[in-house]
Amino acid sequence: MGEVDRKADAGVTGDAPEGVAGEAPRVAAGATAETAASEPTAPSPPRKRSWKRIVVWTLVGLVVVFGLIQLIPYGREASNPPVANEPDWDSPQTRALAKRACFDCHSNETTRWWATKIAPFSWLATADVNGARKVLNFSDWRGTVDFDELQESISDGGMPPLQYTIAHPNAKLSEAERQELIDGLTRSLSAMPAASPAP
Ligand code: HEC
Repeated sequence: MGEVDRKADAGVTGDAPEGVAGEAPRVAAGATAETAASEPTAPSPPRKRSWKRIVVWTLVGLVVVFGLIQLIPYGREASNPPVANEPDWDSPQTRALAKRACFDCHSNETTRWWATKIAPFSWLATADVNGARKVLNFSDWRGTVDFDELQESISDGGMPPLQYTIAHPNAKLSEAERQELIDGLTRSLSAMPAASPAP
């Protein structure tokens, strides 16, 4: 407001330095008016647009990647080799407990939950099953098992693994069922000719 007044005064006086005196405030007034008008509007819309664009393209990228990884054959099929040799189960209950809590990974009777047919979950499931069968396979029993390890894995809750019981709450064992499975497995497995050499 003060600049406009001063400019008006300079025009009225009509002196030689009037132009200089009148010019400077006009420029200043114009500059402030311009910046005041442009600053909040001009730079912000592109910023908003590119932010939205990043989100949209990230989502598109994720969908494309998700689609492409489905083409990778690894883990697509749950391969169940024929059951070769089961332990001599001491009772049907022991087998039922093991089937419920362990067979999806430690046997050749794996049943796949629908989500584990979709990459990348199918990869995790396949890696789990392959790793699990290698250390302990109730369908291909070779009489080699570390009892201490077996008991420990059940009693400390490490087996069945947490990520599995989240998706299969039915596989969760109660305290009593853990003990029942340990006892049953110990009876079943020790009844077989031990192939593991004494330490
Ligand atoms: C979700 C799949 C899954 C289930 C279900 C599962 N296991 Fe495992 N188990 C594994 C994997 C994978 C390994 C191999 C870990 C490694 O390579 O170190 C393993 C390893 C083991 C081992 C070897 C020692 C160890 O802890 O690494 C024992 C013993 C074992 N499991 C027992 C059991 C028993 C008993 C049950 C049922 C009560 C069971 N598991 C259920 C996946 C599973």
